[in-house]
Amino acid sequence: MPDDSQLHPLPVMHHPLAFDMIDAVLHAPQMNPGAYNHFALAPMSGALGAEITGIDLGDLSDAAMAEIERALTNHLVLAFRGQDLAPADQIAFARRLGPVEPWPYAKPMDGFPELTELISGPVDINNFGGSWHTDSSTFDQPPAYTTLYCVSCPPVGGDTSWANQYLAWETLSPEMREALRGMRLLHSVARSFGDHSRSKGSADVTTTPVSVPPEHEDLENLHPVARTHPVTGRTALYVNAGFSSNFEGRSETESRPLMAALMAHGATPEFTCRLRWQPGTLVVWDNRCTVHYAHNDYRGQPRVMRRAVVTGERPF
Ligand SMILES: [Fe+2]
Repeated sequence: MPDDSQLHPLPVMHHPLAFDMIDAVLHAPQMNPGAYNHFALAPMSGALGAEITGIDLGDLSDAAMAEIERALTNHLVLAFRGQDLAPADQIAFARRLGPVEPWPYAKPMDGFPELTELISGPVDINNFGGSWHTDSSTFDQPPAYTTLYCVSCPPVGGDTSWANQYLAWETLSPEMREALRGMRLLHSVARSFGDHSRSKGSADVTTTPVSVPPEHEDLENLHPVARTHPVTGRTALYVNAGFSSNFEGRSETESRPLMAALMAHGATPEFTCRLRWQPGTLVVWDNRCTVHYAHNDYRGQPRVMRRAVVTGERPF
C-alpha cells in the first residue's frame, strides 16, 4: 500500500457543493522536467505529455535515444514536431524502443507490414480510436508503445487526448485500491470488435477497414486491473472501455457498473493532456500507464496517419 503522503502531494481541496471532486493532482515531472541535451521539451499539462522540438527522429544517436526514453518514462506521451519521416524511418524509430510487429486487424501499408495507415475520408462518420482506450489490451503482450505519425490532417479538429493512469490509480480511495489489487479483467476481441465492428461495412464507415482474422475471433486475455509499470515500478489503472468484458469470476452485468466507474474516473479532465496535430508530428506514448481518445470532430475532412506499435511484456 503506498504511503498516503505520496498520493496527495498538494493540499486537498473539496468543493462544498459537488460530490466526487478529486483531490488536486500533479504528475511531478510536468513541473520539473529536468535537463535534456539533445532537444527542447515543453510539458503539455500538469498531468502528462511533452512537446519536443530540435531533434530529427530519422537521425538519432544512442545518447539522444537514451534521453528520449528518459523523457518518455517521465512524461508518458511525447510529441515530436516538425519531423519528415518516410515509412521506413518510423519503423526504425519504433524498433529502437522494442520489437515491432504487424497489427493483424487492418491491411498494412504496401511494402511495410509493420505500418497501419489510418485514413479518414469525406464520407466517414466513425473514426479510429474514438473512445477512451489503451491499444490492443486483448493481446497476451499488448503494445508497450504506440507511434503515430501525422501525414496530413485538417487545419482544426481531430485532436488526440491522453490520460495518466498512474494518477487514476493513486486518486482512488485506499479501500478501492485494496479491493482492486488481485482482481483481473477479461479483455476480449469479441467485445472490442463485436457489435460495432467497422468491418461490417456501409457507406458511412471509415476508409481504414478493420476486420478480425478467424484465428483472432476468440482471442481474450485476463490482465490485472492494477498494473505494475516495469520501468518505474508504479501502479497504473488498467481498464479498457471497449475491450474489457468482465472481471474474473463475475458476470458482465455484475462487472459493468464498476468498469464504467473506473473508466470514467480514468478519464478525469485533470489527468489529461490534448494534442493538436500538424503534418510532421510524431507522437509516441506508453500504453501501460495511459489511455487515449481520438476526437471525432472533423467530419468530411481528409486525414492520414501512420501507426507502428512496439510489443510489450505480459501485464503484471
Ligand atoms: Fe488507440
